[in-house]
Amino acid sequence: MKRSRIIGTGSYVPARVLTNHDLAKLIDTSDAWITERTGIKERRIAGPDETTSELALRAARLALGAAHVKPRDIDLVLVATATPDMFFPATACLVQDRLGVRPGPAFDISAACSGFIYGLSVADQYIKTGAARTVLLVGAELFSRIVDWTDRSTCVLFGDGAGAVVLRADSTKHGLLSVHLHADGSQWELLNVPSVGSQPLTALDQVRAAKTAPRPQTIRMKGNETFRVAVRTLEQAAREALEANQLDASDIALLIPHQANMRIIQATAKRLGLPMSRVFVNLDRYGNTSAASIPIALDEAVREHRLSEGELVLFEAFGGGLTWGSAVVRW
Ligand code: COA
Repeated sequence: MKRSRIIGTGSYVPARVLTNHDLAKLIDTSDAWITERTGIKERRIAGPDETTSELALRAARLALGAAHVKPRDIDLVLVATATPDMFFPATACLVQDRLGVRPGPAFDISAACSGFIYGLSVADQYIKTGAARTVLLVGAELFSRIVDWTDRSTCVLFGDGAGAVVLRADSTKHGLLSVHLHADGSQWELLNVPSVGSQPLTALDQVRAAKTAPRPQTIRMKGNETFRVAVRTLEQAAREALEANQLDASDIALLIPHQANMRIIQATAKRLGLPMSRVFVNLDRYGNTSAASIPIALDEAVREHRLSEGELVLFEAFGGGLTWGSAVVRW
C-alpha cells in the first residue's frame, strides 16, 4: 500500500523578535505573567512588507531543497492558513507561481491552528489514490496582523512564521500511518475572527461603510473555556491516534503538539503519561503560530536530530472551528 512519506522539511520565521519585555512597554502586562500563564518568552513579527505567501515561499524552498525535489516535480500545492494574502486567489496559487510549479491544483486549507493536520489528511488522500505523487504542504501565518494589540489577553499569545513539508508516495513502512480529523462548529464562538461574509449590510450601509476606513478584524477568544476544551480534546485526539495504530504512549519517540500554551502541552503530556523529554516545545521562542506551529516544530526537531529513522512521531492540534486532529508518522 502506498504511504505518504515526509521527505523534506523547512521553516522560516521573520527576523524581528518581540519579547515579553517589549510587550510590557506597550500594554499592561509583564514577562512574569506571560511566562507563567503561557510559557511564551518571545515571538516573531513580520516586517511591513512581508506577506504570508512570502513566508510560505521561504519555508517551501527550504523544504524542497531538503527533499531534493524540483518545483516541476510537485503535483499539488497546499497552504494551511487563517491569514491568507487575499480572499482569493489562494495563497497556495501565489506560492505555486513564485516557485515555478506547473499548473496542477493549488489551494488553501482553512482549519485555523489544526490546518497543518488537515493538510496532511488532504495530501494523504491525493497520494493514496494516485492523484498526486509529490505534494508540497505549507503552514504559514501572519497572526500579528489579526491580533488586537490593545487586548492583553490575546495579543501576547501569537506570532508569525511558516513551516513546510514535502510528501511523496512511498511503498516502504515509513510515512503517515494515520490521520484523524474532527470539527465541532457549534463551538465556533470560543475562538474566531469575523470576516466580510458575516456582516449583512444594507445598500445604505454599504455607501456609509465605503466612506469610513475599513475596520481591521481581530481575534476574539474565550481564553479560559478554550483552555479547558483544548486539554480535553487534545488528550482524546492523541488516544484516538494511539488506539487506531494499536500503540501505547511509550511507543512514541516524539510528540509534536500544536504550540499554543505550555500549560496545555504539559497537561496533555501528563494525561498521556509522556515525559516532557519526549515532547517537542519551541513556543517559548515563537508563541502560537497557528497552522505554522507544527511544521516549524517538526523542521526544528529534524535539524536537532530528535528523530531517527523508524521512530514514531505523534502530531496533535486544536484550533478555531473548533477543529482538532492527530496524526502518526513512522519517520
Ligand atoms: N498580562 C497580565 N494580566 C493579564 C493578561 C496579560 N497579558 N491577560 C489577562 N490578564 C489578567 C486578566 O485580566 C485577569 O485579571 P483579573 O483577574 O483582574 O480579571 C487575570 O489576568 C486572569 O485572567 P485569565 O483569563 O483567567 O487568565 P488565564 O490563567 O486563564 O490565562 C490565557 C489566560 C489566555 C493565557 C489562557 O486562558 C489560555 O492560554 N487559554 C487558551 C488560549 C489558546 O491557547 N488559544 C489558542 C488555541 S489554538
